[in-house]
Amino acid sequence: MDKVRYFTTPIYYVNDIPHIGHAYTTVLADVMSRYSRSIGRETFFLTGTDEHGQKIKRAAEKARISPREQADRTVVRFKDLWTKLGIANDDFIRTTEDRHKEVVAAVLNDLYEKGDIYKAEYDGSYCVPCERFFTAKDLEENMCPDCGRPVEEISESNYFFRMGRYRDWLVSYIEEHPGFILPEFRKNETLGFLRQELNDLCISRPKQRLDWGIELPFDKDYVTYVWFDALLNYISAPGAISDPGRFGRIWPAVHFIGKDILTTHTVYWPIMLKAAGYDMPETVFAHGWWLTGDAKMSKSSGNVINPMDMIDKYGPDAFRYFLMAEMTPGQDAVFSEERFIEKYNSDLANDLGNLVSRVLTMIIKYKAVYACSDPEYFKNLIGEVRASVEAGFDSYRPDAALESIRRLVREANSYIEEEKPWALAKESKERLAKVLTDLAEIIYAAALMISPVMPSKSEEILSRLGTAGDTALRREPWKDPMDFSVIEKKEALFPRI
Ligand code: MSP
Repeated sequence: MDKVRYFTTPIYYVNDIPHIGHAYTTVLADVMSRYSRSIGRETFFLTGTDEHGQKIKRAAEKARISPREQADRTVVRFKDLWTKLGIANDDFIRTTEDRHKEVVAAVLNDLYEKGDIYKAEYDGSYCVPCERFFTAKDLEENMCPDCGRPVEEISESNYFFRMGRYRDWLVSYIEEHPGFILPEFRKNETLGFLRQELNDLCISRPKQRLDWGIELPFDKDYVTYVWFDALLNYISAPGAISDPGRFGRIWPAVHFIGKDILTTHTVYWPIMLKAAGYDMPETVFAHGWWLTGDAKMSKSSGNVINPMDMIDKYGPDAFRYFLMAEMTPGQDAVFSEERFIEKYNSDLANDLGNLVSRVLTMIIKYKAVYACSDPEYFKNLIGEVRASVEAGFDSYRPDAALESIRRLVREANSYIEEEKPWALAKESKERLAKVLTDLAEIIYAAALMISPVMPSKSEEILSRLGTAGDTALRREPWKDPMDFSVIEKKEALFPRI
């Protein structure tokens, strides 16, 4: 049996409602999954929520509810957003589910028995928002080196994972597997981090300080450190322990993450997998941040744009389009509603929307019939564009894929200007039929290519052409003639804003 392609998003904290950063990673993973299905690959797409730890506990205390209630309330907000955004995930994991807790307990037991987990006294600085320990030399002006906020001094007995002894192995693995950490400069960042000594990882929290977590199977006075718990979602959901056969077909994964969680995914996670005897992820792809002005958009900075508002105003597909077209994965990008409107009007209303409405209107007006003439030029053009669209998606560049589709749409719009179907209507019905057929085929091809990014608009275009149903990206143009007589006049696909 063929290997399944497996794509993941980070599992999101349920201390607050989702924002654009969360929407972006999820749309990116959804687009890659839809693309993968459209080229005929069996695909498994996982997202979910990270529900344990101090962050959630504090949010619950603030709201005067239990952490469980906090999680139950917030998870609905994520699930609703994903439904509204057209996210087609195959599974949704919550770290409070038994199927997840069982895997965490099994991995902890295994590592404990192997001697990779030991107990020791710990003194250090702890950052609550990041849920990470730091040594004195990690701190920047006594503040957390990751978020710049104050740290708390802590001294207690804890369990440690012997991460340090895997450092040399990890460095070689990363150097020998060029596609493991992407983009390339993030790989170098991880290698830079690994140049220093690698400390063992504190993987427990005493219950007297924090009781909202998964109990250590070998010591009931402790719960599991939230990152050690959370990372395991990637193997608990596909059934690492409950269904090894299925797991073996699905694993390894391509993990999409934001650059803020690079170290946990490219250092902790590979070492946890190695120690537990699992294969490495296929790829960890770290994208950049959405900024407002110069600042990272984040809950704590209070400069957050609510994705629900964008969807309510402009629809899910236009929003998905903007997220994918405006950011080159890896780089940062600025989010502004003005920029959104500019892009929407130029790419969607003027280029694609206009092409569809012009061509369909002319087909109706001139009562054109489908004419399978000699479409070599367009066949080549479509073939070439499709190859570059696939190359874009294959290299995690949906923005480049969309740029290629835009080129095709613009070519089609200039073809209309050159051929002037309104003149052909008087001069040559035969030529007119051929020109409109070519244009209909281009629209068909563009709708298929754009489908991973704008699934509902793509379906709408295909149904307007009377060709709904087949969304295989590689369908050959001119394979089946279209029935132009079913085409009806409809309202604009992307009304100008
Ligand atoms: N729970 C951890 C992840 C555990 S994965 C095993 C976590 N959760 S989070 O809710 O804080 O979400 C983090 C992710 O949201 C980032 O990695 C990134 O994917 C996305 N974003 C959050 N803010 C962002 C921006 N401003 N811009 C782009 N994406 C960012 O960390």
